[in-house]
Amino acid sequence: MLNLDGLNLAGTKLDSTIVRAVAGLGDGPLTEAGLVRHVHPLFSRTLERGRRTGEIYLANHSLGRPLDMMATDVARALDAWYAGQDEAWGPWFDEMQAYRAAIAQLIGCSRWDCVVPKTAAGQGLRAVLNALPWRGSKPVVLTTAGEFDSIDFILRTYAQRGEIQLRWVPVRETAHGGASLPTIDPQEVIERIRTAHAPRLVVVSQVAFATGQVVEGMSAIVREAHARGAMVMIDTYHSAGVMPVRFDACGADFAVGGNYKYTRGGPGACWLCVHPRHLTEVGSEAQPELRTLDTGWFAKRDTFRYERPEHPLLSGGGDAWLESTPAVLPFFQARSGLHLTLALGVERLRAYSLEQQGVLRDALAARGVQVVPRPLETGGAFLLLRSERAQELCAELKRAGVNVDARGAFVRLCPDILTTRAEMEEAAGRIAGCLEASEKADRAGAARR
Ligand SMILES: Cc1ncc(COP(=O)(O)O)c(C=O)c1O
Repeated sequence: MLNLDGLNLAGTKLDSTIVRAVAGLGDGPLTEAGLVRHVHPLFSRTLERGRRTGEIYLANHSLGRPLDMMATDVARALDAWYAGQDEAWGPWFDEMQAYRAAIAQLIGCSRWDCVVPKTAAGQGLRAVLNALPWRGSKPVVLTTAGEFDSIDFILRTYAQRGEIQLRWVPVRETAHGGASLPTIDPQEVIERIRTAHAPRLVVVSQVAFATGQVVEGMSAIVREAHARGAMVMIDTYHSAGVMPVRFDACGADFAVGGNYKYTRGGPGACWLCVHPRHLTEVGSEAQPELRTLDTGWFAKRDTFRYERPEHPLLSGGGDAWLESTPAVLPFFQARSGLHLTLALGVERLRAYSLEQQGVLRDALAARGVQVVPRPLETGGAFLLLRSERAQELCAELKRAGVNVDARGAFVRLCPDILTTRAEMEEAAGRIAGCLEASEKADRAGAARR
């Protein structure tokens, strides 16, 4: 059933329409004029919404905007089912393998089979937790207080159930590139690895979801963890598609991530990446030392031979981490956004994102609004606006036609390749207007009291 013939798994064969559009940009840095001319036409549906409503979308760090092709890709998956009935499994599985190859390329992992499709990052974390061996006592897991809620909640639940002992690295208000921000200190992570009673797993984000802090020195964290017998899982949800992840080079044991933000793939298209050191070779009959309880018949050595040896035999390579019958539509849903990201290149996207963040920061400053003043390279893809009433401000901005969101005391502002300078100037004006109106209301309230 699984037909890999004709698939180039070493490098993803990118969609020809996307390749043609991106070729129009040339090899140099991305420019707004080039993007508007060659790439924006791939997004007519989402851009039409902006034109109709007048809303400026700066929530690209939350839910990325899809290409028109996303809908036709999903329809293609369904057409294969109508037309081919059970023959649809052929194209469905081909797309799953292409998805794995595309993610491997995106995150700098040399083996496509290391990528294990998941429907959520949290599902990837659970697969790793359910692989941790007990060595006399329950495994110690070290994490930071700056992890995303899903990761945090799962870890606390495992601790509450007595499955793990949880140890924390606090997030401290620290001068971070010139601004005071709640910060994960990589040096403190390293020190906690030394003192946290032999952690078995360290879980840390490459870019913090609330502040966008790029957690520097991941390789040093991994080196320290390995020296002490711990494995490391990095959360790349805010780095994959934003900046080079360099999974192989950083040496982490696992990475989790997903496509509904920067790679425009919608919910359900997530993944766990397992370092080859924990895998046998593809096709090998040897059994890996590390195996997870989150398993199913797609992880079996030969799924479709229906053999049932007393001791389950795992497939070679990363397939040993597959589970039951996979959800196939997310592979089609994620395809166009991934292909566009790979065609544009993450380095070029990063450079363009930094340029855009600079433009938006300056447009705000020209109207008297200061974003958190940190060097742009120390953050991910979004700017931060500090506000004691961040949630209310978001609602006011939404009413004023600027779509943003907030975490804690920070409003997050994320332009992307669809955002024009004119939109950023307009957004800056609307933001300044909202802040002024709310300050006036505060002053009037204070005068009445
Ligand atoms: C850093 C980070 N990790 C994970 C997730 C999503 O987790 P899950 O896929 O388990 O819902 C998000 C979503 O915003 C995130 O920002």
